[in-house]
Amino acid sequence: MGKITNALKKAAEERMSHVEKMNRVKERDKLIIKMMGESKVDPNIVTYFDPKALISEQYKTLRTNILSMNKGKPPRTFIVTSSIYSEGKTVTSLNLAVSLAQAVNNPKVLLIDADMRKGKMAKYLGVTAEQGLSEVLQETARAEDVLFHLDDWENLAFLSAGQVPENPAELLAGDYMKMFLSKMREKFDFVIIDTPPIISVTDAGIIGPLTDGVIMVIQAGRTQRGIIHRAEELLYQCQTKVIGHVLTNIEYHLPEYIYRYL
Ligand SMILES: Nc1ncnc2c1ncn2[C@@H]1O[C@H](COP(=O)(O)OP(=O)(O)O)[C@@H](O)[C@H]1O
Ligand SMILES: [Mg+2]
Repeated sequence: MGKITNALKKAAEERMSHVEKMNRVKERDKLIIKMMGESKVDPNIVTYFDPKALISEQYKTLRTNILSMNKGKPPRTFIVTSSIYSEGKTVTSLNLAVSLAQAVNNPKVLLIDADMRKGKMAKYLGVTAEQGLSEVLQETARAEDVLFHLDDWENLAFLSAGQVPENPAELLAGDYMKMFLSKMREKFDFVIIDTPPIISVTDAGIIGPLTDGVIMVIQAGRTQRGIIHRAEELLYQCQTKVIGHVLTNIEYHLPEYIYRYL
């Protein structure tokens, strides 16, 4: 009797948890559809729309790897770069920033678009941010006036690239950039800097040494080994430490429901 009662109770509990789970899924899907429909944020920023998606889990793994580095003293400022254009730097920076901002205790995160030549961060976020890093470094705008947020996510701030300046590399190499970064380091728990590709321009090599390290994005199936070696050599020469690699463009052959837990 006891066993049957227990078994029934267990079955009822299981059923309840199944119903609860389904309701949660319905709630979440409603939320995603609503947000996607109304939002101007690019669907590539999966962590923003659907923190439980398989790809979001991958960014969470990246976050965990970063947070567990150096025995609890993780890198707090880092650049994201790649060897060549269009490997996924900006999409990686954005998803990593959102993912870090969603971590326990909601750390304060700042994402800077330091690709002052072809910065696309604001475009991915669906905003027009006329002023950004370029103006801050030329001292025609103050960071606190041009930083912006999405929705009510106060712990996640963005600084767009701003207008293309005449001399991006010189601006990044100037003392003002050093001062600005150390000020941001005091204000935020994490500062992520999206940069242009290191083989094309030197910018990542200039900012790299001012940070705790670089995350190298590599597009699988496209970027050749020799090019990656050359890129890492350039970073090494600039005394920039590579703290991790992110492979993009990987295909999964198992359907998402197998991975999906909730
Ligand atoms: N993890 C990924 N897997 C597959 N495609 C990706 C991934 N990350 C980005 N992409 C795609 O790569 C293209 C370039 O991304 P972007 O972040 O703008 O590149 P970059 O900043 O390196 O120039 C975009 O079309 C984007 O959808
Ligand atoms: Mg980019």
